[in-house]
Amino acid sequence: MPHIDPKRLLNSLSEMAKIGGTQKGGVCRLAATAEDKTARDLFASWAKTENCEISIDQIGNIFARRPGKNNNLAPVVLGSHLDSQPTGGKFDGAYGVLAALEVIRCLNDSGIETGRPVEAVSWTNEEGSRFPPAMMGSGVFSGSLNLEKALSTQDINGISMSDALDAINYAGEHLCGNRTIHTYLEAHIEQGPILERENTTIGVVLGIQGIRWFDIIIQGREAHAGPTPMPARNDALIAASDLILQIEDIALQHAPDGRTTVGTVGIHPNSRNVIPGQVKLGIDMRHPDAGVLSTMKKELQAVFEKMRKERGVKGNIDEIWYSPPTIFDAETVDAIEAMATLRQYTCRRITSGAGHDAKYMADICPTAMIFIPCDEGLSHNEAENAKDAHLVAGAQVLLDVALARAGLLNADR
Ligand code: GLV
Ligand code: MN
Ligand code: MN
Repeated sequence: MPHIDPKRLLNSLSEMAKIGGTQKGGVCRLAATAEDKTARDLFASWAKTENCEISIDQIGNIFARRPGKNNNLAPVVLGSHLDSQPTGGKFDGAYGVLAALEVIRCLNDSGIETGRPVEAVSWTNEEGSRFPPAMMGSGVFSGSLNLEKALSTQDINGISMSDALDAINYAGEHLCGNRTIHTYLEAHIEQGPILERENTTIGVVLGIQGIRWFDIIIQGREAHAGPTPMPARNDALIAASDLILQIEDIALQHAPDGRTTVGTVGIHPNSRNVIPGQVKLGIDMRHPDAGVLSTMKKELQAVFEKMRKERGVKGNIDEIWYSPPTIFDAETVDAIEAMATLRQYTCRRITSGAGHDAKYMADICPTAMIFIPCDEGLSHNEAENAKDAHLVAGAQVLLDVALARAGLLNADR
């Protein structure tokens, strides 16, 4: 069985981390920016060196295809994303893409001909930070998100995804999806504390918890900060502050699994001596159980109505995205566990707290994920870090499972 080349994998990760690298050691590579383009170009050039055929689809997903013995068979696809959060880490996404590339490099080095083609993919805009929602490229590929709607999504400066992809030359021509995938595998850091706490190398991911995103607008009235008496105010930010604490409480009421985050706050006009007239909030809400998550949504609507009445403000609440809880393919999950055990890595089954492109791929093909620990369970932070040995172990399991799925023995499955 071929082995991952640790030095090559780690070098590629550190080369990639230079693109959009921040002073604090993380990366800022928002989707469809110049930094994203440079990262994409580097990935594509490395894949071309491995004789892969590159194709780019209409939402900018990049596929690097290593042909198999029978190219009419559906490919085994491996990957993740190269875009990051504004204060992102070196491994969230980039690890899965470069582990996929390392698999292809190993297959080439070993002169292995697989039955099926093997593809490494870099999905567009997994983070959803610049253009909501998250997992956009895989969502469009799988048919769960509408292409036109995704392309017309605007960032806070009014630039559309379509124009941003054009500007970086990644508005591809290939139709999104429209083809059969045999298996999708994604390697990723856990982004949470469980594996590290339990001193476990491989997380065998069973599925992904549900996610709901809401946009809230609270409309008060701007007025002068000096002359306006306190009782005469209609301060949208005070109302928002009240609401934010109640949103936290929704998650606390559904402990230990409930999660609520107010990640964005926009204040208008955002001037020190003007009472805020309008506040926009961006809410992220999660739970592994779809029923509980819809209860949490109802609770959000209720606290919003209560706040509106009590604070005398107007406004509205808009659910902009729902990603239901996902259960991965049992056979693929078993295969990951079997390969990790064969390599004598410690492993445990785990549910993902973060969203991943594997969520949408699970809707259209057998899918599962491989997690490795990250330091202090920290992610979406420039200090995000992972141990070399774990990075190598995760890529090795990816290689083993990919080969089992694409190999000659399984070529007729
Ligand atoms: C993706 O990073 C997510 O929001 O889970
Ligand atoms: Mn990620
Ligand atoms: Mn992320």
